[in-house]
Amino acid sequence: MSSRPPDPLRLHGDGQSTAARSNSGDNSGSDSGAYSGSDLGADFGSDSCLPNPSFLRGLLLSYAPAALSPALWAFATAPERLTWTTQVSSRIFSAVSPLYDELTEVDGYGEALEQALLDLRGVPARILDVATGTGYAARRLKRQYPRAEVIGVDASPEMAAIARHNAQPEDLDIQLDVGDAARLGFEDASFDLVVAQNAPPFCDEMLRLLRPRGKAVLVYSFGGPWVELAWSPIAKRLERSGASHARGKRAGFGFYGIARKRG
Ligand SMILES: C[S@@+](CC[C@H](N)C(=O)[O-])C[C@H]1O[C@@H](n2cnc3c(N)ncnc32)[C@H](O)[C@@H]1O
Repeated sequence: MSSRPPDPLRLHGDGQSTAARSNSGDNSGSDSGAYSGSDLGADFGSDSCLPNPSFLRGLLLSYAPAALSPALWAFATAPERLTWTTQVSSRIFSAVSPLYDELTEVDGYGEALEQALLDLRGVPARILDVATGTGYAARRLKRQYPRAEVIGVDASPEMAAIARHNAQPEDLDIQLDVGDAARLGFEDASFDLVVAQNAPPFCDEMLRLLRPRGKAVLVYSFGGPWVELAWSPIAKRLERSGASHARGKRAGFGFYGIARKRG
């Protein structure tokens, strides 16, 4: 069900993406066209047989996170494996939290989320960003849907604290809590949109929290080809958890999937 992805072999020569990690503010920041219209000849240049830096960067960001595929497959086929991720992730991400925003400040980080937002219809009133980390997706969602109540939850108290700090300069009214995305305290069917970016697929919990016909969105900024490989079991899991159908698509260096809750 996924469409033909933008291939790193077809990256533009300048490799520019306006959906930069730090300043993507609206859909005008989306840069889906940045990966088309070029061909191999242009990428390699007429007088050089060496690939240019943008080609190498595309290759790296798309294909380097190969571990994503078995990890996502493992979580999708046996969701009980998610139970141990909370403690492990919380410790790891708490330790790296001071560096997280700097490490992920990479052009193209927001591209898959931008494309997922373009693919969504309607205006959600209540939105949850699970495993929000330092709040990148939560902030982007609040900018996109300013009237919506936006809540972000992360297992790491340190990441959640940075997310709160990050929301302040724009005075974004986002509730940022600490919690386990596999077992959240919110009521059943209490959200219109539940998003998880660069996180394990918490399919059961995401679908439990959605109102009928609400949308679950899984976004992976990098490793698109590997997520695509694992998408079939994830889509099946989403459907078993209550989605009427789930579709996935490569976007930029990454991938996004959207599932609609039956209703
Ligand atoms: C790679 S970061 C992604 C953060 C953010 N969504 C982003 O895209 O920048 C993964 C985050 O998932 C969080 N996480 C992992 N397992 C979790 C769980 N079971 N419940 C809540 N958060 C979790 C980690 O603490 C970490 O902040």
